[in-house]
Amino acid sequence: MTFTHLVAARPTYAGVMLYTAALLTLGAAAIHLVVAPPHLRESLPFGVFFLSVGCAEAISAIQLAVRPTRRLALAMAAGSAALVGVWVVSRTVGLPIGPTPGKPEEIGLTDVICSLLEILSVVLLLALGVRPPQRRIRRVWLAIVAALPSALLAGGLAATAVAAALTAMPEAVNAAPRAPGQSAVSVARLTEAPGTEPVEHVALTAQVSQIDGQRLWTYNGTVPGPELRVTQGARVQVTLVNQLPDATTLHWHGLRLPNAADGVAGLTQDAVQPGQSFTYEFVARDAGTYWYHAHQQTEAQLPRGLFGALVVEPAQRTEDRDVTVLLHGDPGHVRIDHTQIAAQPGQTVRLRVINAVVAGMDGGPETPVLLGAPFTVAALDGHELHDPQPLRATRVPLGMGQRADLVFTMPATTSVRLQLAELPGEPSPVQKVFEHVQAAVPPSQAVAIGNGPAPDQPDLAAIPVFDTTTYGTPAAELTGPFDVTAPLVLGKQPGMRDGRPQLIHLINGQPAPNVAPLRVTEGQTVRLHLVNDTDEYHPMHIHGHVFTVLAHNGQPLTGSPVHLDSVLVGPHETSDVGFVADNPGVWMIHCHVLLHAGMGMMMTLNYTGVYTPYEMGTASGNMPE
Ligand code: C2O
Ligand code: CU
Repeated sequence: MTFTHLVAARPTYAGVMLYTAALLTLGAAAIHLVVAPPHLRESLPFGVFFLSVGCAEAISAIQLAVRPTRRLALAMAAGSAALVGVWVVSRTVGLPIGPTPGKPEEIGLTDVICSLLEILSVVLLLALGVRPPQRRIRRVWLAIVAALPSALLAGGLAATAVAAALTAMPEAVNAAPRAPGQSAVSVARLTEAPGTEPVEHVALTAQVSQIDGQRLWTYNGTVPGPELRVTQGARVQVTLVNQLPDATTLHWHGLRLPNAADGVAGLTQDAVQPGQSFTYEFVARDAGTYWYHAHQQTEAQLPRGLFGALVVEPAQRTEDRDVTVLLHGDPGHVRIDHTQIAAQPGQTVRLRVINAVVAGMDGGPETPVLLGAPFTVAALDGHELHDPQPLRATRVPLGMGQRADLVFTMPATTSVRLQLAELPGEPSPVQKVFEHVQAAVPPSQAVAIGNGPAPDQPDLAAIPVFDTTTYGTPAAELTGPFDVTAPLVLGKQPGMRDGRPQLIHLINGQPAPNVAPLRVTEGQTVRLHLVNDTDEYHPMHIHGHVFTVLAHNGQPLTGSPVHLDSVLVGPHETSDVGFVADNPGVWMIHCHVLLHAGMGMMMTLNYTGVYTPYEMGTASGNMPE
């Protein structure tokens, strides 16, 4: 039968309403059928429930279109209303039965759309059920035209919901499963070997704290968390106590430590549940400036306050004053954790600048400038540069996660100032206006070092930008040939991921968790060719290793060797880095722009013969990004 026949033969109901209600119900049916299999795996009765609901909706929708009756319409309205009711209960107080009784479920795009379709269909079905017989539709084409928008809407909504359900966050992903029949070591066993190093204890309690009227997530009640200073060569034992409402972990950004202490949920451990604690143990091998932060739902937990500075002090201090300056907040409201640092004329000062600012979508760096004294960039990412020459006012770009140690001597009369500048051509004028409107605090954040009058203020936009590729002088360095060479092409494209539309961020054409891991064998030398195919900045970070920057935009470095754990790859730039695979484990490689990592720019570095017993995904609740 054609549309004309149906409507003409059954003039009782308005065709438009009838077909729209049937379409909406069919859309809801499709959604229920698509989500039935994952529910089936979770709980048999729930899966069967979704399957039956889907089938019942599909059959009744077809029946409504073919043989509409008032009774059927009212019955369908009651059914859909009941489903909406169940949904509301499950998302607010939680269902009394099922896999997690009494616990509200998370609201997702799929279930919102499904309920929306049902609510609309209830309205139409009720109208169909209670309204007296309608006039016969004479102009069929008018009915079709009238029904078209709602059909498109119902179809579009249902298709979106189905796509969201099909791309839902995976239930369980193992980044390095144990290969059957092969001998392999679990990451859980890759701990620090016993030794006689002096032990230094650290206790960090992750908790919810009220700071300036804001509910923040803190370590020991402060944001940033307490500055940790340990001595090079010490055996550090950190006890993390989790008093947060959510699971969490601690990651030691930049440290070369045993894999089991790396703190990545779903890779090197299960996230520490509320009320539980976990002890991290490692020997602080490399002196330098590092930091620590949560690595479970990092995108949410770090910006809430779960981060702090970590300094591994050399046995012999080289400067009179040694101070950490942690930049945090977000690009519109960068905060500096000091405003005044004491120093006397003639004293040498080391400022350890850490960029923990949660970058926006463009991923752009922070650009501190030191004014009032010539300074050297003594170290990057904690690693000393060879023969650093004194610089005059220079902008030092730092991608999220990167660090720079600036060393200078206090002048006789003026104070010194660390200020934030911007990079040439960035941000865009639109962003600037936006940030200006956003920023209640003036954009002149600065730290004053010493008490004298402020130094002269140059035009920040006109001073040079630090160039890592020519600074300092060469020294013995890792060179080729390399055993493993791999491209890491960074891209982005709009699409559906984790059940919602997003700007998917890709490595080698895939988002996490589908990016093929970088596979290495202990002892191999590895060269990574990073290609940024986007208009964003990507500070790419590798856990547990320190790499050498081999080339920037294809040009080898001519100055000091540069050793980093995070390399900033600018829009459409390339960067080549090399390292020795000397730390077995399963390690994360990701963009440190948390937004980008959360949208898929994440992969792992897998050593031969190492597996992880931990899983990421909704089943375990381990979500490292
Ligand atoms: Cu600072 Cu995987 O991160
Ligand atoms: Cu990025």
